[in-house]
Amino acid sequence: MGQVNRQLDPAQTGWEAEKLDADLRKRIVGQDAAIEQIISIYQTNLAGMSSVGRPIGNFLFLGPTGSGKTRLVEATAESLLGDGRAVIKIDCAEFQHSHEIAKLIGSPPGYLGHRETHPLLSQEVLNQYHTERFKLSFVLFDEIEKASDSLWNLLLGILDKATLTLGDNRRVDFSRALIFMTSNLGASEMGSMLRPNVGFAASDTERRNASGIVDEKLNDKVARAGLEAARRKFTPEFMNRIDKTVVFRPLGEAELRRILTLELNMVQQRVFSSATGAPFVFSLTDAAKEFLLREGTDMKYGARHLKRAIERNLVHPLSNLIATQQVRGGDLIRVDFDASGSRLTFFKEAEDMPAYAMVQMVDISLAPPMGVLSTGAAVEPPRTANAKSSRR
Ligand SMILES: Nc1ncnc2c1ncn2[C@@H]1O[C@H](COP(=O)(O)OP(=O)(O)OP(=O)(O)O)[C@@H](O)[C@H]1O
Ligand SMILES: [Mg+2]
Repeated sequence: MGQVNRQLDPAQTGWEAEKLDADLRKRIVGQDAAIEQIISIYQTNLAGMSSVGRPIGNFLFLGPTGSGKTRLVEATAESLLGDGRAVIKIDCAEFQHSHEIAKLIGSPPGYLGHRETHPLLSQEVLNQYHTERFKLSFVLFDEIEKASDSLWNLLLGILDKATLTLGDNRRVDFSRALIFMTSNLGASEMGSMLRPNVGFAASDTERRNASGIVDEKLNDKVARAGLEAARRKFTPEFMNRIDKTVVFRPLGEAELRRILTLELNMVQQRVFSSATGAPFVFSLTDAAKEFLLREGTDMKYGARHLKRAIERNLVHPLSNLIATQQVRGGDLIRVDFDASGSRLTFFKEAEDMPAYAMVQMVDISLAPPMGVLSTGAAVEPPRTANAKSSRR
């Protein structure tokens, strides 16, 4: 036995948790506190220290609409299971009556339609996205403040004992599940505290005081307002079963700006993996980006409004250009802003670009553009190509 007296650092995280942390920070803007809570639960699980007979983690996400609550859950599934769709979503508002609860857990044997009902929350459903490496399930209960009493009782059982009893008495084990619950409770109070009567919420940058330090007092006050609203609405019995409660911040202009870059990148990934198999690259001028930001800024709907502005002003026109073959595989499209018509304009800057040149023009670190190299686009550099790389 060698005796030592070396101080250890319990704040350090292992490489797997660090990788998840880095992945989430790339995808989620302005919600670092929420990311930290996920990492902490994940690290506990990796170390084999999760409580026995309970879900791996029970999270309550509060905060305004379009602030990234659902996106964070999807991004975690994306990073760990390779698929953001691996999240089982239960919209609590849809399960108000007993016959709707039967959709979740199936009806007892003997009831009409017993054989036809496949419960939405069976063990098979829960395990369907398990991978060789990760036997994890992601379950998301949205708008829990709208849950009926019977759904609420099911939920309490899941949170406490990691079990759910189906209509035919089979048991579903949730001990390999991460349970996320979301609610918009307190969101309006939080919004008005940050900047009353103005369209934008203050971003982190704007929440700094005169000496440039983030006004943590205001941030704490906002978070407390969210928590208090939850405590007023939910019973202590419920709140005690939650491992981590996180109040998501309203997004400000600086955050929306970063989300715009992320969303444009995702549209580009969509082009690369689209079924038409004719990948091309598009690039927006600063004026085009400013236009999308202006169009997509609405404090009430957070980044949701921004996404809609991108669909309407960029994705739909691009789809028309593809359908009419004005845009083809191998093209480089510049997207600019026409102030007089108050709309985006589209110009072809190059054509016949090889796949490898297109891949170099976009940031593929967020989601690799699947299939771009197998789409039939020219892989050898063509003699005529003079693509000017205008990186976004
Ligand atoms: N913090 C964020 N970082 C990156 N993208 C975000 C963020 N917040 C929102 N988005 C983008 O906006 C979309 C809508 O956000 P999301 O679905 O996460 O909202 P929500 O907080 O769950 O809202 P709701 O309460 O209405 O369900 C996401 O799919 C994502 O593209
Ligand atoms: Mg949501």
